[in-house]
Amino acid sequence: MTSDTDSSKSKTKPKKGRSKPYIPHLAEFFFESTEDWNHDKAKQLYSKATPALNDYELDTVQFTECIEGMKSLPKSSIDLVIADPPFGIDFDGMSGAYNRDENLVIPGYREAQGSYADFTKDWIAQLPRIMKKSASAYIFSGWTNLDAILNGAREAGLTTLNHLIWHYPFGVYTKRKFVTSHYHIVLLVKNVKSYYFNKIENYPEDVWIVKRKYRTGKEKNSTKLPLEVVSKCIDYSSRPGDVVLDPFMGNGTTAVAAKSAFRHFIGFEVNAQMKSLLKKEIDSVNPGELYKPYKERLPTIEELAEKYPRAYREYLKQRDEK
Ligand SMILES: C[S@@+](CC[C@H](N)C(=O)[O-])C[C@H]1O[C@@H](n2cnc3c(N)ncnc32)[C@H](O)[C@@H]1O
Repeated sequence: MTSDTDSSKSKTKPKKGRSKPYIPHLAEFFFESTEDWNHDKAKQLYSKATPALNDYELDTVQFTECIEGMKSLPKSSIDLVIADPPFGIDFDGMSGAYNRDENLVIPGYREAQGSYADFTKDWIAQLPRIMKKSASAYIFSGWTNLDAILNGAREAGLTTLNHLIWHYPFGVYTKRKFVTSHYHIVLLVKNVKSYYFNKIENYPEDVWIVKRKYRTGKEKNSTKLPLEVVSKCIDYSSRPGDVVLDPFMGNGTTAVAAKSAFRHFIGFEVNAQMKSLLKKEIDSVNPGELYKPYKERLPTIEELAEKYPRAYREYLKQRDEK
């Protein structure tokens, strides 16, 4: 099931003689995110109890198989899922091909067991029960196994809201084919009528251009997602104090992104050899350390005025008319 309801609205023609002429970038001058919280309010929300998870230890990673882990969660308890499962390409996490120093790579990375389609179907099937009605799930996938993710989501009864592309401007050199320099991120919702989406910028496009960071000289396992990509998922689809689940925690990027943005996290990771690295990563940030209200991230009126003088003149006119 897919949803693209917003496109239908654009089919409504404006009534003749009434509508104002379209002025490019004018909307940016008036833009405000759907919701926003100052630092104190976000901190307060973070400190509030999470009744759906009263008996559950928050902000921890459990070293267990994620299906078992998800079974232990109460129903309708999760606000957001961020999942970056193993790719299913016989990747051992140790290869030097991605600019890795094998001596710094922690062993024990677990690839998908059995058929990738079954593995995917089984873990995605756990999501609808534990997701709240307002919850979303961002699932990362390479192109080779994308069909398994889409089928698994469909079978679980989740709706695809967007299909995002994360473009990273560097891929592994190829001789006789194109260089793969993108990842798919499938945005799924449990309920198309009540999912939470905070429009934090005026024109949020479905292609995200974010560089991969190669943390040369530092220990890690497998592929580590950039914090920026995971933080974007958190910003658009959760509020401060919400609970973010990552079934495949790896190096703990989701935990760090959540904690530093005043969100709680729950994570599962089957590779217990990651324990001390994960602790180090999570302890390296304080709650809310990177939190910034959305309005402080938007360009100022002065910056917009310099870029779009025509829209600025119209903005001043409309503002004074109000
Ligand atoms: C692609 S990595 C995740 C990387 C992570 N997003 C990060 O930024 O560090 C996938 C992780 O899932 C773990 N894993 C594989 N199968 C699992 C399972 N059934 N349950 C829990 N973890 C699993 C692997 O050991 C690996 O650490």
